[in-house]
Amino acid sequence: MKNKKDLELQHYSLCLIPVPVYLISTMDNNDTYNIAPYGMVIPVSYNPLIISVGSAKNRDTYRNILETNEFVLNIPGIELLRKVNKTADPIPSEEDEFIHANLTPIKSLVVKPPRIEECKAHLECETIWIKEVSNDAENRVIITAKVVALSLDEDIFIKNLCKQKGLMKPLFYEGKSYFTLGSYVGNRKMR
Ligand SMILES: Cc1cc2nc3c(=O)[nH]c(=O)nc-3n(C[C@H](O)[C@H](O)[C@H](O)COP(=O)(O)O)c2cc1C
Repeated sequence: MKNKKDLELQHYSLCLIPVPVYLISTMDNNDTYNIAPYGMVIPVSYNPLIISVGSAKNRDTYRNILETNEFVLNIPGIELLRKVNKTADPIPSEEDEFIHANLTPIKSLVVKPPRIEECKAHLECETIWIKEVSNDAENRVIITAKVVALSLDEDIFIKNLCKQKGLMKPLFYEGKSYFTLGSYVGNRKMR
């Protein structure tokens, strides 16, 4: 038998797989734009396309989603790493984070918050429900939302998914470190 090491819960980073990084764009009721990086984002259904997002309550992103029920999940490539970090700066709610991070807002297809031009793909979302994570994590919520529109940079509209993910160069995050995709290791037909 292999030797296993017991760990304190605080060492969770050693046991988790890095999470993919999205930039969430939102708007408040005064039409102020906001952007924040989020890693706790996971599809929970493909058909219909439904996504869950884990958020702290003290985020402008959460407050804006609560107010407007709409947001966009934008996928940045590794070349945006520094700008991703800028969007995590704690700046006043009334400041436009597109200006702060030098990113470009473009009109979304369906929802009111804009897409981020520099990102590679965009999932426009409408909230279905928001729930507290648990009684002992009272500052945390799960936002579950339906994807109502999808768009993608034309140059990565490629049917070969292996090549497409390589070109997308997505960011992953764990323990304050960023990673990108590793290598292609096989497919679903392999036994
Ligand atoms: C790569 C990365 C991923 C993050 N993921 C999350 C997340 O999933 N949930 C969350 O509540 N905060 C997350 N944060 C922290 C927020 O992005 C950060 O607190 C940000 O300032 C919130 O901005 P806002 O108040 O404009 O929404 C993450 C930060 C980074 C750098």
